Amino acid sequence: MNPEFEVLGIGRTRLSSEEFRKKTEEGAAKSKDTRGFSELRWTDFETRLHYMEGDINEPDFYSQLRVRLEEMEKNGSSPNHLFYVSTPASVAGPIIEGLGAAGLNRRDRGWTRIVLEKPFGHDLESANALNDVVHSVFDEKSVYRIDHYLGKETVQNILVFRFSNSLFEPVWNRNYIDYVEITAAETVGVENRAAFYEETGALRDMVANHLLQLLALTAMEPPVAFDADSVREQKVQVFRSIRPMSAEDVARFTVRGQYGSGVIDGKRVPGYRQEPDVNPNSTAETYAAVKFHIENWRWAGVPFYIRTGKHLARNLTEIRVHLKPTPQALFANTSSVIAPNVITISIQPDEGISIAFDAKRPGTHMRTVTVQANFSYQGSFGSKGPVAYETLLLDSMRGDATLFTRRDEVEAEWRIITPIEEAWAHLPPPDFPNYAAGSDGPTSWHELLERRGNAAERAIAYDK
Ligand code: BG6
Repeated sequence: MNPEFEVLGIGRTRLSSEEFRKKTEEGAAKSKDTRGFSELRWTDFETRLHYMEGDINEPDFYSQLRVRLEEMEKNGSSPNHLFYVSTPASVAGPIIEGLGAAGLNRRDRGWTRIVLEKPFGHDLESANALNDVVHSVFDEKSVYRIDHYLGKETVQNILVFRFSNSLFEPVWNRNYIDYVEITAAETVGVENRAAFYEETGALRDMVANHLLQLLALTAMEPPVAFDADSVREQKVQVFRSIRPMSAEDVARFTVRGQYGSGVIDGKRVPGYRQEPDVNPNSTAETYAAVKFHIENWRWAGVPFYIRTGKHLARNLTEIRVHLKPTPQALFANTSSVIAPNVITISIQPDEGISIAFDAKRPGTHMRTVTVQANFSYQGSFGSKGPVAYETLLLDSMRGDATLFTRRDEVEAEWRIITPIEEAWAHLPPPDFPNYAAGSDGPTSWHELLERRGNAAERAIAYDK
């Protein structure tokens, strides 16, 4: 770390800088993302941490903050300011206005940037309104909207996999790909975030950002260069190609679920409605699945199935690209199942890529069997790469916005999600809970997938 790097934590809780350091140390030592925590190095680092108590709704707070930052600078802190706003969407606007009113949005010496955590608005209208506030105070090039999925090594690797290997790009289109599945399954429940989750639900929490980003990276055209605007331009084009759903489409092509009680890791856990601070009649979804169509030249007719849920049987984030079967079922009469190729990009926990293809089973008869070619990060590189936030915070300090979402991208994401939320609000209330904690989610997901007679079914048909 540069010797001028210092952190000023701000919150309503009364804390001294000493107490703040202690809390931060406990958090860092316990975090699953910290590797090789060392007391000695922490002691050296923690002198850079400071704390200021303040109420962001108090107009005086911002001038006090300005004074505090000036003092820090006089004592050797960097002239560059990176504001990091991790708050509910409703207070992000007032904070940005407060920073602007105190003149903290620009500097004579050094730069000023702002990092905004999700949720970035609640729907298209509120995201637009928040973006207007942001732009009245900061230039778009100083705004870094975080979607931490973009900082994950495996997510960044999607672009490398697609655009630096000539093997895959020629088949990456409707001629060869049958359908794509993007899954983010979690075993955790809502934990202590009921207040947030009651308002947000799985669609806004995961699909509106992380999963749509995975879809965009999987489906985008090659950018002219690997820089912030070229990459984001292509992602926006993908979002614009997804037709917003009518209420009828929503009823046919989406599934929502909420977990009831069940067993996770051998322990009985309560249903969502029994979690602390959750409304006992809550209709917040803890599971969402959507079938999207990308209406462009490359993807016409190829469905993208997206699903996510809490308290599911497994912890798994992956993209599965299912290729079409071969035009001729040459080995169909060998009484073995011919499975079409599948490329699996595993985002977590097993980071890697695997390709499933058919091979001849050794023996005197011609029989086929599906085998896997696997690449694993652990196997190839040994150690784990940086965690997402490490990459993203460093990028925001370096001024590289490639892995952050641009205004038009966020708005395009809401343009897709808002009609679904609106239709769900008008459709009859779902019969929640509709899946048990620790299960694979609502069974209607399978119906959604099977309704189209996909390659997997056709492969089974070969066997008959
Ligand atoms: C967050 C969501 O953005 O991402 C959480 O608010 C979710 O609900 C988390 O659990 C998942 O992140 P990761 O990196 O653990 O997959």
